[in-house]
Amino acid sequence: MMTVLLTGGTGFIGSHTAVELEKQGYRVILADNLVNSKTEAARRINQLVGKDVPFYAVDCCDKEALCRLFAKEKPDAVIHFAGLKAVGESVSEPLRYYRNNIDSTLTLLEVMKEYGVTRFIFSSSATVYGVPASCPIDESMPAGGCSNPYGWTKYMIERILMDASHADSSLSVALLRYFNPIGAHESGLLLENPNGIPNNLMPYLLQVASGKLERLHVFGNDYHTHDGTGVRDYIHVMDLAGGHAAALRYMADRTGTEIFNLGTGTGYSVLDVIHTFEEVNGIKIPYVMDPRRPGDIDANYADPQKAERLLHWHAERGLADMCRDAWNAQKKNPDGYPD
Ligand code: NAD
Ligand code: UFG
Repeated sequence: MMTVLLTGGTGFIGSHTAVELEKQGYRVILADNLVNSKTEAARRINQLVGKDVPFYAVDCCDKEALCRLFAKEKPDAVIHFAGLKAVGESVSEPLRYYRNNIDSTLTLLEVMKEYGVTRFIFSSSATVYGVPASCPIDESMPAGGCSNPYGWTKYMIERILMDASHADSSLSVALLRYFNPIGAHESGLLLENPNGIPNNLMPYLLQVASGKLERLHVFGNDYHTHDGTGVRDYIHVMDLAGGHAAALRYMADRTGTEIFNLGTGTGYSVLDVIHTFEEVNGIKIPYVMDPRRPGDIDANYADPQKAERLLHWHAERGLADMCRDAWNAQKKNPDGYPD
């Protein structure tokens, strides 16, 4: 049985991936410093998989703690979800973002080398494409021109990983560029659990749906899109989780670096999301049109054919599933995870 270490394992995407990997027969180890998640996520994972998944409250910049973990658990592969991800915060606290995201990756790579672990999957982002020349975006399109320090950390870490695998022919690296993950586990036990007032569309919409916030602010209706509002490639977090399992299988007997977009290939506007949510869940979402949010682009959606061709993976759930599962989880956990 293959043991997979999930850094950031109690976070939104990590926790959902933990459940999917356990279901597919992997042995999962969770590591997280809990800066943006709670141990309750680990308890919920245990409940869903019916066993105790080892959880380590460690910072991935702490080499000694990681060495102890590697010595004890002997992972065969690492999926590096751990990182800070708030775009606005990265603009006001760039050094913290560069330090945390880059240092954690370097430290993990050093520890992997020491313990002979060669398989690494990195949570990258479609944000590395900057302002894409056109959509759909495929992996051969240029990366760079990021609009914030968060995006640059992803870009720089991709570069570091390419250089590392170039220098060490035993390394096997997958750079997974996620588009916009939303939704929640079908059980409603796992969910995205943002602190404070959410910045992203679906978490904000969920708080409007539950009456905690008065109305949704639609950031811009003069974009070059079918209805003027911003278009994104929303992907169900459980489909994204499955993409990691597919990447692990693909990398099992390969070395070098491979980049994959993980998206559905379909772009939906802000108004499409609002209307689908209203229809599926029978709730009215009050909204107002506001000016554009600085740094936002018209449209951003994936060409997901490479993942289909090489990983034999594609997203199976649609926007209606994402809206239904997100609302189901929100209703079951109106205040997120308890402390
Ligand atoms: P999240 O914040 O829910 O999960 C990240 C986890 O990493 C958190 O639990 C946090 O406590 C932990 N963490 C941060 N720094 C750490 C450190 N130094 N040591 C140990 N743990 C640390 O975010 P998420 O949405 O699950 O995102 C997971 C990864 O995917 C991140 O790297 C993120 O940048 C990337 N990503 C997310 C999105 C998105 O829209 N959610 C899109 C593209 C890429
Ligand atoms: N939006 C609103 N109102 C809101 C929040 C968002 O109208 O309250 C709009 C945005 O303008 C955008 C769309 O909804 O058109 C999606 O916005 P999100 O903030 O949910 O997502 P982004 O596409 O801006 O950002 C996401 C991740 C980033 C990542 C980026 C690119 O949050 O981490 O995708 O991959 F960098």
